[in-house]
Amino acid sequence: MTYIVGMVSQKGGVGKSTLARMMAREFVAGGLSTKIADLDTQQQTCTNWAGRRAENGVTPEIQVQSFPSVKSAVEEAERFDALILDGKPNASDQTIEIAKASDLVVIPTGQTVDDLHPGVVLAHSLRKKGIAAEKIAFAMFKTTGSERENAAARDYVSQAGYMILDGEVSVSTAYGSASDQGKAITETSFRTLNERASKLAQSVIDRMAELHERQVA
Ligand SMILES: Nc1ncnc2c1ncn2[C@@H]1O[C@H](COP(=O)(O)OP(=O)(O)OP(=O)(O)O)[C@@H](O)[C@H]1O
Ligand SMILES: [Mg+2]
Repeated sequence: MTYIVGMVSQKGGVGKSTLARMMAREFVAGGLSTKIADLDTQQQTCTNWAGRRAENGVTPEIQVQSFPSVKSAVEEAERFDALILDGKPNASDQTIEIAKASDLVVIPTGQTVDDLHPGVVLAHSLRKKGIAAEKIAFAMFKTTGSERENAAARDYVSQAGYMILDGEVSVSTAYGSASDQGKAITETSFRTLNERASKLAQSVIDRMAELHERQVA
């Protein structure tokens, strides 16, 4: 059994690749053999990051491979405990393919309506194409707001009928620098930042386990 997690968004630059790398790092740290399928063949963000990680000798090693299609990525899945699909910047036909192939689809979003609205529109369009709402989870990412604003964002997503993961990752230059060095956002030099990111990662893991239990029951 392989867990497949897909990172998708309507807007570009919301944090899909950052989230993909964090999840891969946490899965590997938890003893799961993991691969990131980098489906953004133009930017190859995760592939380039894995290169920096290897050059800087950061451990554990994270396997990343660039794939031209979701189909070819999924063919690799059974060799791993977890496969993470990192999609192209904007929603496209690839987005629905990722959603269909995934056990859990994560949509990163900021806390403003400008960010939340396109995320919810994407989630609705995935549902119309047959993706179950329970498979979709929003992750609060690159937040800049107060506790109150984050709570309002959580309400917005819940009222739209979707799950919003616990924990949130705020904007921080330290997260950017970690990424520059080939590190995940749970590997910065600051314990509090790592703990915040870990909380979100744990929430993804818990949600996957919950969905798996429902499937088995
Ligand atoms: N918490 C954060 N604080 C500051 N910068 C961040 C944070 N998370 C991600 N970034 C930076 O934001 C930019 C976009 O992030 P990322 O590449 O993960 O988004 P993406 O959704 O994969 O983008 P694309 O749509 O282009 O594939 C990157 O430069 C990344 O380093
Ligand atoms: Mg990306």
